Amino acid sequence: MTDLTSMASQKLASRESDSVTLIEKATGRHIVLPVLEGTAGAKTIDVRNLYRELGYFTFDPGFMSTASCESKITFIDGGKGLLKYRGYPIEQLALHSTYPEVCYLLLYGDLPTAEQLDSFNGSIKNHALLNEAMRVFYRGFRHDAHAMAIMVAAVGALASFYPEALNVHDPRDREISAHRLIAKMPTLAAWSYTYSVGRPFVYPRNDLDYTANFLHMMYGRPDKDFIANETFVRAMDLILILHADHEQNASTSTVRLTGSSLASPFAALSAGIGTLWGPAHGGANESVIRMLEDILASGRDLRHYINRAKDKNDRFRLMGFGHRVYKNYDPRAKIIREMCHKILAELGADNPNQPLLDVAMELERIVLEDDYFVQRKLYPNVDYYSGIIFRAMGIPANMFTVIFALARTVGWLAHWMEMMSEPQSRISRPRQLYTGVEHREYVSIDKR
Ligand code: CMC
Repeated sequence: MTDLTSMASQKLASRESDSVTLIEKATGRHIVLPVLEGTAGAKTIDVRNLYRELGYFTFDPGFMSTASCESKITFIDGGKGLLKYRGYPIEQLALHSTYPEVCYLLLYGDLPTAEQLDSFNGSIKNHALLNEAMRVFYRGFRHDAHAMAIMVAAVGALASFYPEALNVHDPRDREISAHRLIAKMPTLAAWSYTYSVGRPFVYPRNDLDYTANFLHMMYGRPDKDFIANETFVRAMDLILILHADHEQNASTSTVRLTGSSLASPFAALSAGIGTLWGPAHGGANESVIRMLEDILASGRDLRHYINRAKDKNDRFRLMGFGHRVYKNYDPRAKIIREMCHKILAELGADNPNQPLLDVAMELERIVLEDDYFVQRKLYPNVDYYSGIIFRAMGIPANMFTVIFALARTVGWLAHWMEMMSEPQSRISRPRQLYTGVEHREYVSIDKR
């Protein structure tokens, strides 16, 4: 049973380091609000008792100043451009680690020993197959269905196969579901691609590593094996590492919110995938490539697009620039930019994507010198370069966000497991500032 005792009595890991006093000017009524400090990041005012004691809600649309939970998973310092998973800087993980190792780190809190990693990999490989009924499920989609639409549905549908393991209060059930989801995402993602191009579904291979296996299922065929280019496998693994988690972003917050109703992790992740799809979030990588292609095709000066992005009467934005948290270079963009150059160098100067990269570089150069973007601290984000790498690897644009979803699956799960393991958890339910009509008497239809 869920413990529904007051949140304010919940034992927190953060420490109370100070307090602020909020005084109602008209009456002098006041409340002393504790200030909470974590191990890093901004101090937080604990407003949990505010409504009960003074009758006020806080107003923060878009959650510009709201910490929705305590978390030990990922830390971002947007001003300094820092990103750490479980305390490890992303640069070190990008250089030395692999995606399965990062998955273990995010889920369990520490880097695995060789034995632990072996056993984790074994479990993931064991769960990579999909129930055969999923083949029929895929066939219900139009041949040109967007791969993200298929993913939203397919991940939710998975719940129907595991009714015996969906007790969200059981830590072992949660762990099995997490392994299943991490294991099956590459199969689901690859099949949404092969279906769209009319190729047969390719089954997972246990002798391949996680990332090579994903590429095998995307590009392999029953009549001939796919031999993966090593640089491409490494680039894909790096992309998965860089996208694995990003603390309380919109899709992760969605997963937490859905999970807070005690819904299954499959339902929670399906909701998260839907949120990620939007162009302001994970869908930006697809939008970036479409924007660069439009720019290239139009033959217009880049200034035309930059001026449009600055025009408040035009909804056009430079996709791949700006971030809610980073007010400095996105550290993931720095790493991915380097990999992007490596891949394009390997492909040679006459590769068909070179003109696209040239436009991307020139756009970045102009933006970084332009007052509008400098003043607003708008730097290229991770999606700016991931789109170009994907294009160079021959991945179609409608798969870009699917790969982001595949990578972020572990982050969503780590947050869901963290939340579900709290002894006292409550359904997430924000309040509102109502500005509609206060009261009306019903008028029958013949009198309106
Ligand atoms: N092009 C032009 N102007 C921009 C852009 C942009 N890409 N991004 C922000 N601005 C302006 C915005 O108009 C506003 O100007 P003003 O202060 O004059 O009103 C100011 O910068 C602040 O923007 P905001 O919309 O209030 O910032 P936000 O934190 O609400 O939005 C964002 C962040 C990422 C949604 C936004 O920067 C954006 O739409 N960027 C393009 C889409 C994109 O690349 N998204 C991927 C994000 S990174 C991956 C991920 O997390 O999924």
